[in-house]
Amino acid sequence: MAAAAAAAIKFLNLATLIFSVLLLTSASDTLNSGGNITDGETLVSAGGLFTLGFFSPSPAGVPTKRYLGIWFTASAPPEAVCWVANREAPLNSTSGVLVMDSARSLLLLDGSGQTAWSSSKTNTTAPATVAQLLESGNLVVLRDKTSGGGGSVLWQSFDHPSNTLIAGMRFGRNPRTGEERSLTSWRAPDDPAPGDCRVALDTRGLPHAVGWRGGAKLYSSGPWNGRWFSGFPEMASYPGIYSIEVAVRPDEVAFVFTALAGAPFARLLLTDEGAIQQQTWRGPAGRGWNIWDASPRDVCDAYGKCGAFGLCDAVTASTLFCGCVHGFSPASPSEWSMRETSGGCRRDVPLDCGKTNGTPTTTDGFRVVRGVKLPDTDNATVDMTATLEQCRARCLANCSCVAYAAADIRVGGDGSGCVMWVGDIVDVRYVDKGQDLYVRLAKSELNDEKRRAAAKLIVIPVTVSLLALTAVLGMYLVWRCRLRGRASSLMFLQGQRPSNHAQTKAMLGFLSKTSELGDDDLDLPLVCFGDIVSATNNFSEENMLGQGGFGKVYKGVLDDREVAIKRLGQGSGQGAEEFRNEVLLIAKLQHRNLVRLLGCCIHGDEKLLMYEYLPNKSLDFFIFDAANKKVLDWPTRFKIIKGISRGLLYLHQDSRLTIVHRDLKPSNILLDTDMSPKISDFGMARIFDRNQQEANTNRVVGTYGYMSPEYAMDGAFSVKSDTYSFGVILLEIISGLRITLTRFDSFPNLLAYAWSLWQDGKAIDLVDPCLVETCSPSEALRCIHIGLLCVQDNPNNRPLISSVVFMLENETTALSIPKQPVYLAQRYSEAQRTTGENTSSSSVNNMSVTVLEGR
Ligand SMILES: *[C@@H]1O[C@H](CO)[C@@H](O)[C@H](O)[C@H]1NC(C)=O
Ligand SMILES: *[C@@H]1O[C@H](CO)[C@@H](O)[C@H](O)[C@H]1NC(C)=O
Ligand SMILES: *[C@@H]1O[C@H](CO)[C@@H](O)[C@H](O)[C@H]1NC(C)=O
Ligand SMILES: *[C@@H]1O[C@H](CO)[C@@H](O)[C@H](O)[C@H]1NC(C)=O
Ligand SMILES: *[C@@H]1O[C@H](CO)[C@@H](O)[C@H](O)[C@H]1NC(C)=O
Repeated sequence: MAAAAAAAIKFLNLATLIFSVLLLTSASDTLNSGGNITDGETLVSAGGLFTLGFFSPSPAGVPTKRYLGIWFTASAPPEAVCWVANREAPLNSTSGVLVMDSARSLLLLDGSGQTAWSSSKTNTTAPATVAQLLESGNLVVLRDKTSGGGGSVLWQSFDHPSNTLIAGMRFGRNPRTGEERSLTSWRAPDDPAPGDCRVALDTRGLPHAVGWRGGAKLYSSGPWNGRWFSGFPEMASYPGIYSIEVAVRPDEVAFVFTALAGAPFARLLLTDEGAIQQQTWRGPAGRGWNIWDASPRDVCDAYGKCGAFGLCDAVTASTLFCGCVHGFSPASPSEWSMRETSGGCRRDVPLDCGKTNGTPTTTDGFRVVRGVKLPDTDNATVDMTATLEQCRARCLANCSCVAYAAADIRVGGDGSGCVMWVGDIVDVRYVDKGQDLYVRLAKSELNDEKRRAAAKLIVIPVTVSLLALTAVLGMYLVWRCRLRGRASSLMFLQGQRPSNHAQTKAMLGFLSKTSELGDDDLDLPLVCFGDIVSATNNFSEENMLGQGGFGKVYKGVLDDREVAIKRLGQGSGQGAEEFRNEVLLIAKLQHRNLVRLLGCCIHGDEKLLMYEYLPNKSLDFFIFDAANKKVLDWPTRFKIIKGISRGLLYLHQDSRLTIVHRDLKPSNILLDTDMSPKISDFGMARIFDRNQQEANTNRVVGTYGYMSPEYAMDGAFSVKSDTYSFGVILLEIISGLRITLTRFDSFPNLLAYAWSLWQDGKAIDLVDPCLVETCSPSEALRCIHIGLLCVQDNPNNRPLISSVVFMLENETTALSIPKQPVYLAQRYSEAQRTTGENTSSSSVNNMSVTVLEGR
């Protein structure tokens, strides 16, 4: 393996060497007036960093479309193309030619002599010109020095960016003329034609970069604060790579980054999906690019995610990431509960501001929101000369001013300058190194502690009434249960038909608002609350096994049998849906890799589920723990991987229904006495029709890191979402690293790390060092390969779990080549999706807010 890698590197070095020799022989960086470059010839910048020539973006064998472009020499086109001339007019043969026409600048002619592209406007009176590819990657057309033009630049490629920003390019606009230098995405990785996505610098208020898809804003960098864009503090802190600045002049507002001496080549790339990636070249031996940063990074980068006066927090999955600024509450709580947060928040207490005899009078004040990305400044007023104190006074004196903040943080302290917002503030999120935002509030809202709790709690009327009904029904059932005495629960555990079948059905029928399951009999026993209380020693601390997002789990002994009892968040109103799900979906499933549900109980607002007891805790207890991980040697881990895949296969295909689990993660994989895995926690599982491919939900539930991109971003889920989670778990089992853990600074998460090792032919390094002695390298490599296939961005590329099982069991099956996973939120879709027919039906079942514990 290592030998092969070394050989590959040698070969690469050799190839690079030959390549450079070739370049040296034909290299010139200048095209003189009247000269031309045909397909196959190139211009190379003086130091060899950049090459101009013809290239095809599609793989060999596909009918050629030829483009003229500039690329980073060390990599190969189309991967490292920085600029493309004829994006909209590809040549259909290799007979194109670039001509330096003395009168008309650069012309790209196709085989028939037609002009496919030309550089600048014609100025026939201009003297003779030359074209030169500079070491910066800029292609310039200059007045020929010898003919008295003084070498001034007539045209340059840096003025016409494609999808890539490199050091020295000026990204921005001229506020006077409106002339803009923005990035436009490629239509597809193999199609440089202008795509839907664009990133441009908005100069209204403070300069801020905005990503667009068509007419919709995808994300904003947040206002420039003198040192970085408010939402991306990390951009300013890559010591040794480059420095950034935003130049503000009357005729130009531009973002520029400058490469530092000896730094790796860096670029900002707008992907065809609309994400901006900050990349550096790994160097001749490394092949490929390190991705340092990207936008959007997470849900909170979605533009205006939480609406007006909303405040997005990427770590609070429990409130679906959105909250309101203090003194505000969701404008429509029911919409918020269904993940439609873009409606934003409403002021709790009206402001008190008016004029008496022309003098403004107000009792309002300000409350600071610390550590945030400042709101969109499109409609804000900016004065760089004011102090923060003056800013406060001005904002207070103007009844339409709702918030203010310092515009420039360079001076330190509280900053200087003044931004004032009128109307609504949008696109605010918590961010590292965030700034202070002062929000105007009515007097009664300032430092008002008692309102805080009320404002945070989003009460959902539907859930409340559902719970009330459940409680009434529960009391009735308990009453019946008492009448029957203990005999029934004993009977159920012995596998007999419950005598209170009618009530079970009544209860489940009630819980089942939809008829997903038809009218089949349910074999699930009801258990008396009293029995559970005595089985768990009145829910004593000693009996507690763990605590999850939905409640506590206790060990109990019922009729000499050990059971695990999950007590769903009692009294909190949480868990009604989970209960319904587990009871309806899982009661019938029986597979050795699924945890068996034995019974259930409703008592008042208590909802309890009873499972088989598994003594060995969950997978995360072992693989991530330095001491415990040694317990699981490679053969055991391989067995666990196969077991999980078989359990999933049963859920997806082999049971009577197709069930998507939606929340697979190591803490939901329990281990039996012999360490065989059992999938648990079906609270979020959903049923699919046999023919249904995909569903959508407005309420994304699950755990970040394990959720597939299309689910986390768009709420679209399918069996392939489970494949993705499985892939993540698989890589975690092999590496002993958590998905969220970054091993090195440059890798945003485990997928990035795994992919990088894989690309470098060092995938075996991913294997947890504690497995070295027991590990079969071929099995481990095959697992990593399968894991990477499972975590591909496009769900269609991910294998079905049936294929995964097959690939795991048959060592000789050929595996396809995985595509690079999306470990930063590359994909993005508008936060405000319209609620279509297919989503409204699922919304009916989704009227509760779910608490989830992300890690
Ligand atoms: C390109 O230059 C060669 C000579 O260097 C000349 O023969 C040829 O006609 C030129 N082609 C065009 C299209 O100008
Ligand atoms: C290439 O394009 C030219 C016009 O630009 C056209 O005349 C010619 O037929 C095309 N050739 C092919 C093979 O499509
Ligand atoms: C064309 O070039 C001449 C000479 O450099 C200059 O005086 C003139 O203004 C230019 N015309 C235009 C339209 O740019
Ligand atoms: C700015 O004002 C316009 C017009 O009132 C409005 O449509 C737009 O949403 C506002 N932008 C922001 C960021 O508040
Ligand atoms: C209040 O501020 C807004 C925006 O900064 C401005 O348009 C308006 O003229 C101001 N009103 C007064 C009375 O100063």
